[in-house]
Amino acid sequence: MGDYRETVPERSAATNLILHVHPRTVPEQTLKFTLSWGLGGMSVVLVCLLALTGLLLLFVYEPSIDHAYASILTLRDEVMFGRWIRNIHHWSANILVIVVFLHLLRVFFTGAFHAPRRLNWIFGVGLFFLVLFSNFTGYLLPWDQLAYWAITICTSMVAYIPGLGDGLQKMIRGGAEIGPATLSGFFALHIAMLPIALALLMPFHFWHVRKAGGLVLPAAPGTPIYPLRKIRTLCRNPICLFGFIRFYPCVWVRRFPER
Ligand code: HEM
Repeated sequence: MGDYRETVPERSAATNLILHVHPRTVPEQTLKFTLSWGLGGMSVVLVCLLALTGLLLLFVYEPSIDHAYASILTLRDEVMFGRWIRNIHHWSANILVIVVFLHLLRVFFTGAFHAPRRLNWIFGVGLFFLVLFSNFTGYLLPWDQLAYWAITICTSMVAYIPGLGDGLQKMIRGGAEIGPATLSGFFALHIAMLPIALALLMPFHFWHVRKAGGLVLPAAPGTPIYPLRKIRTLCRNPICLFGFIRFYPCVWVRRFPER
């Protein structure tokens, strides 16, 4: 018998990234809106909207500390639909964080992080951080007082991470202080690195939904709910909890003895 991929078309669609876009049948129950609340789909729409409006913003925005703020004012006051496009970009970014977080909660509470969806949960966590970093890097780009001081405060907090803090802060700021290097670093991350990472990770995320046979089905009545079992296990394991609560402050005190 030859390769199963050639003999079973449905399997081949599930194991090939390109072929998986072919339509397939799914269990009727998974089409119920209240199973997923359409949150994954909403995230896709918002990401597309962000990419489109972001590309339009690039026609006017200038990523230098002398011109960034002025270019935002030009966009707002002089460019046709400029304010409108900026607002769509701004609100889509904020709503995306909320929607992705709700999607994460939906996935968690339906127990969709078990095998065979384990890897997709990890991809999802990656996507969540990419969305958060995209918002964080985008915040500085207008280079106004609000952006400058918000990023100053956030990056100052990073310095308090035991062990890694100072180095990490310097890396994020591109030097000791916030300045031109920070702006160009954030700009490169915001318009290239993070969107490319999102664009690469998202197809794998969708492919794995397909590979797992579609969305997770509701458990039969009477089946114990997994998150509650997990919390119970954690509570039965006081040594782990005690270890964390007892020893983490020690690391902290050793790192900042004067505090
Ligand atoms: C840009 C961010 C994201 C996009 C665009 C996205 C998109 C999607 C879509 C369209 C689906 C199928 C339909 C649905 O469940 O609504 C899905 C399912 C899934 N997502 Fe996401 N997602 C994102 C972030 C996340 C995050 C943060 C997690 C969790 C950490 C996650 C974990 C999963 C899992 C495990 C499934 C399969 C659920 C199941 O089989 O029931 N995703 N995602």
